[in-house]
Amino acid sequence: MPEAQRQRTAAAPTLAERYAATRRLSEALVGPLSEADATLQSMPDASPAKWHLAHTTWFFETFLLRDRLPGYKLFDEAWPFLFNSYYEAEGERILRPRRGMLSRPTLDMILEWRAHVDKAIRPLLTDPANAALVELGIAHEQQHQELLLTDIKHALFQNPLGPAMWALPEPAPAEMAEAPGWYEHPGGIALVGYGGEGFAFDNEGPPHRVLLEPFALAGRLVSNGEWEQFIADRGYATASLWLSDGWDWVRRKRIDAPEYWYEGEHFTHTGWRVRDPWAPVCHISYYEADAFATWAGARLPTEFEWEAIAQGHDPLAGNQLDTADPPRPRGGPSLFGDCWQFTRSAYLPYPRFEPAAGAVGEYNGKFMSGQVVLRGASCATVRGHSRSSYRNFFYPHQRWQFTGLRLAKDL
Ligand SMILES: [Fe+2]
Repeated sequence: MPEAQRQRTAAAPTLAERYAATRRLSEALVGPLSEADATLQSMPDASPAKWHLAHTTWFFETFLLRDRLPGYKLFDEAWPFLFNSYYEAEGERILRPRRGMLSRPTLDMILEWRAHVDKAIRPLLTDPANAALVELGIAHEQQHQELLLTDIKHALFQNPLGPAMWALPEPAPAEMAEAPGWYEHPGGIALVGYGGEGFAFDNEGPPHRVLLEPFALAGRLVSNGEWEQFIADRGYATASLWLSDGWDWVRRKRIDAPEYWYEGEHFTHTGWRVRDPWAPVCHISYYEADAFATWAGARLPTEFEWEAIAQGHDPLAGNQLDTADPPRPRGGPSLFGDCWQFTRSAYLPYPRFEPAAGAVGEYNGKFMSGQVVLRGASCATVRGHSRSSYRNFFYPHQRWQFTGLRLAKDL
């Protein structure tokens, strides 16, 4: 192999290598879990860890092996009913809140299925005609790795013993954050949306122009300490700070702190920990983020303001999940990492958006109703998964994801 080509090979892993690394990471994440842990479903929004392992495998088996490998026979013809998530084109499926009832197939059987699919798919990984679909499958599995982590956190939190998924020593406190500082933008016409040659989800495009008024975006995320001030100032009890739907939600659900907070501690993947006042506040809903911003005399950014600033920043920086050592946080403050950041933008299609043809067209487009866009990446996002055009989305009341906020203001 010529030297130049060897260097290129060393620098950029092949699609097959990235496929293998992604599949390995999913299995590493369930390594510390018992069969019972992996079967728990703590609420309808969350899925069992075992289900995530199986569903991501269903995706590859269905859209690659079944559809593109002549003569392939399904590992088990009954399983698509269990592990199809929401693809109407793929037929009937078990109701989402019933996923926690699947004591069978066992974790071992699902791992066996994974190995079977990984072996069968090998010849497809080197055919350029399949590259886009394999990329989608990898990105899909990475999304489920984050969901697996947030779902198991919620499940373990239900246990009064507060079990740790990962045993780690108490982390060093975050460095004292500097005075916020702001990224200022003069306004004008900005080009947003993904226009590159690599992989991006369909909802990130097409690229298009937007008009921005002059604004500023905070240099860091809002911290736990600042959130404690909001609570001490009766933020959760002051109706004038809240959107009407948010106030209704706070009263109905008796919300008075972020998810996982109890007194001076919060629940984490490493069990109950003393809260670090300098660490970014996490596990808040859109309603809480908006109320805090109002209290702070600021507002949430639009998704395009966020993107216009983030275009100049490294999406690989910050505290994100690393394949080699998932439990350990790393990376300093960045536009990316720690928590997904709420924007005030509704999750809508961009001008000239068209979902892909076929069942995979159901991936994003059909969810563009009633949700808000979050930008950035979190400590549970695989490093390299997100980028400045990436659009995450959740309903305004949801907060079991790693969600935080970065303030914005008009100039
Ligand atoms: Fe999925």
